[in-house]
Amino acid sequence: MFKKSLLAVAAASMLTLTACGGTAGAGSAAGNSGDDKITMGFAQVGAESGWRTANTKSVQDSAKTAGVDLKFSDAQQKQENQIKAIRSYIQQKVDVIAFSPVVESGWDTVLKEAKTAKIPVILTDRAVDSSDKTLYKTFLGSDFVEEGKKAGDWLVKDSKAATDTVNIVEIQGTTGSAPANDRKEGFAEAIKADPKLKIVASQSGDFTRSGGKQVMEAFLKNNADIDVVFAHNDDEGLGAIEAIEAAGKVPGKDIKIITIDAVKDGMTALSNGKINYIVECSPMLGDQLMDLAKKVIAGESVPERVVTEETTFTQEQAKQVLASRPY
Ligand code: AHR
Repeated sequence: MFKKSLLAVAAASMLTLTACGGTAGAGSAAGNSGDDKITMGFAQVGAESGWRTANTKSVQDSAKTAGVDLKFSDAQQKQENQIKAIRSYIQQKVDVIAFSPVVESGWDTVLKEAKTAKIPVILTDRAVDSSDKTLYKTFLGSDFVEEGKKAGDWLVKDSKAATDTVNIVEIQGTTGSAPANDRKEGFAEAIKADPKLKIVASQSGDFTRSGGKQVMEAFLKNNADIDVVFAHNDDEGLGAIEAIEAAGKVPGKDIKIITIDAVKDGMTALSNGKINYIVECSPMLGDQLMDLAKKVIAGESVPERVVTEETTFTQEQAKQVLASRPY
């Protein structure tokens, strides 16, 4: 592993160490003689959605291209599995740990263990709510509050001509996760602009298609008059479409649907008129992650927050870009 090799180099040449700044952390990839590989432990959330599959592929492909030895684990959306994976990466003395926290809270203990072991941590995709910002080096990912706002802004514009109350049901992401908390907040903030817009029911679909379907079935049973679905990701929206069709209604017309992600299946449904609007959340974080990891290991400074650039899609825009979508 990179640090062990670095110590060997240090023993052979104090000069090299001094030139690198004198600490193991600063002994950089730049000073790497060629066959030393950075080892990254990556604790993924799971495989709950099309987005997650694309994100895993992005991280694995980028690690290969960057010459990073990737140790990958899938936590099946369970925090205890992610904590176990991180502890195992600490034991294996990897050079850097990256992870996408399934929920926001409860990370301080394991992050302190990584810090004590002098293994830098990078958050990707999702945030933790820790008040100690020294427990991780940087956080790379989307602005989820902004995504929720964009979804709400579209609905405010789209509902301008409506004279009656617009009844909205919300299918939330995984309870306690950053994207569920933040998208809810951003959406609620945006729709405050029009008192006609009312959230009449809100429940978690755990970011899965089956979860979205089940929740939507229950919503349809209990609410006679649903005008809009706001689903926290495409998969939940796609599940909701199945439930709406099974109830004899037309998704995109009888009930409008707004989702977040813009994965291929979501964009296909948008092009076909079954979804009305998608806010993009990009899963292509691999290249930026490898770049940040190399800098962190080299002891270079990195921004504490790197926000992903993303856009939005109407049905017409989706038709234009569908064929060229990479995921
Ligand atoms: O954290 C990103 C979110 O998690 C994506 O929107 C969703 O599809 C995924 O499961």
